[in-house]
This record gives sequence, C-alpha cells and structure tokens, in this order.
Amino acid sequence: MRSKASLDGHPVHPALIPFPFAFLTGGFVFDVAGRLLGRPGWWATGYHLALAGLAMSVLAAVPGFVDYAHTVPPRSRASSRAMRHMVLVLAAVGAFVVAVLVRGGAAAGPSLVVLGIEAIGAALLIAGGSAGGDLVMRDQIGVDTGYAGGRRWSETTATSDDEGMVVGARAGELAVDQMKLLRVDGRRLVLARTATGYVAFDDACGHDGGSLAAGTLICGTVQCPWHGSQFDVRTGCVRAGPARRGIGIYHVEETEGLVRVRV
Ligand code: FES
Repeated sequence: MRSKASLDGHPVHPALIPFPFAFLTGGFVFDVAGRLLGRPGWWATGYHLALAGLAMSVLAAVPGFVDYAHTVPPRSRASSRAMRHMVLVLAAVGAFVVAVLVRGGAAAGPSLVVLGIEAIGAALLIAGGSAGGDLVMRDQIGVDTGYAGGRRWSETTATSDDEGMVVGARAGELAVDQMKLLRVDGRRLVLARTATGYVAFDDACGHDGGSLAAGTLICGTVQCPWHGSQFDVRTGCVRAGPARRGIGIYHVEETEGLVRVRV
C-alpha cells in the first residue's frame, strides 16, 4: 500500500488497524455469546468475522512494516516500542489462525479450547494495540508533524563516495530553516539551511533518539518533536533539555552548484 502525503508532504499512512481489531475481537464476542446462548448463527458470524479479521491483518501489516523500516527512528524509544507492538500483534494473529484451524468451519461450535485460544489472541491484540497507540500518540509515528511556516517534507537516499562525501542537495534547493533527511550508508542525517549557510547533523535526538528532521528549525536551533529538547545546529550543543547529550555535526561545503556533506 502506498503512503499518502499530508499537506506539507510528510508521509502519513492510512490507519487500517481498526478493521482487524474490530473483526477479531468482535468474532470472539460472537463466539462466546453464541456458545453461551446456544445460537449457531452467532458463532457462524464469529467464524466469518475471524476470517475477515485475518485478511485485514495482512493488509494492515503492509503500512506497518513500511513505517517500521522507513519512518521509525532506529535505536530510539520508538523502535523498541515498535518491535513490542509487532511481536504482540503477530502473536495475536497467530493465535486466531490456530483457533480457526482447530475449529474447522463455520458450522462447528467453538469449543472451550478454541474460546481459550481466541481469548489469548484478543488479550495479545489489546496489548499490541496499546503499544501501537503509544507509537502514534507519543512518538508521532504516522503523524503529520508539519508546522505553520514549515516547508515540505524532503528526503533522499544516497551513497558516500571514496572520500566520504555525499551530495545532499542542489544549491538553492532548500529554503532558510528548511531541513532534509539524508539516508546515507544506512545512517540518517539532516541537511539544513540556516540564515548563515548549510549545516548537517545527526537525525537522532540526544535524549531518546527522536527524529530531528521531523522537528522544528528556527534561527539556528532545532527542536525535537518528542519532548522539546533544543540543539544548536552549528555546534551540536544542547540548548535546552531534557537531552543532556548533544548531537553529531558534519562538515558541509557548497561547490559547483551542489551541497556536499562529509560523512
Ligand atoms: S527524544 Fe526526548 S527530547 Fe528528543
């Protein structure tokens, strides 16, 4: 599934997770109610909801994997939370697959074993959903972090040459206070233009690893979107916490109409 772009161009994925969550937990509820009240039609509904939930799980997993591989800052608080979310949700889907296989069809009433497996799956799904909610609400993964006066989201993937230089942008490509995410040799850097020239620094906040490219740059100071730490983009020093550790900075030069970064 392709990501769509918000108004400022930052990638935002459509949220598909409510569908498998509603179908799988709803199927469990129909199974329990059907068994308690002896209603074959209800547990048949539960069976079909489980199938629909598993199919939607596959669809919802695609943007989830894209976000994990592409958007979540590596070695950050969000990356460990994303891993926990993925493991819990995959375990939940596995439990519902086992329940469907053990049950053997819509006509078969759910046994206590099947209901037990579904209950475990539902609990795992709720725990995984909670971690996923934290990823969005607290780590802003999949959230448009654009701000008034901010520029379009910009990023590029490049490889450094033998001298460790990489072309980050064309001269004049970035406006003052605009940032660009550079994915270079498996690392994430930020190329930014200030009123006094170009700068480059690590895309990892010195606090919990938040993506600075998704933050705010103004007057030579970049602010992390997670807890508001501020860094001087020329020296890498902390200007305001909670971060205590500064960020790495890189030499930038502008030659022949290109902005190059030494990585
Ligand atoms: S990750 Fe906490 S301020 Fe940046």
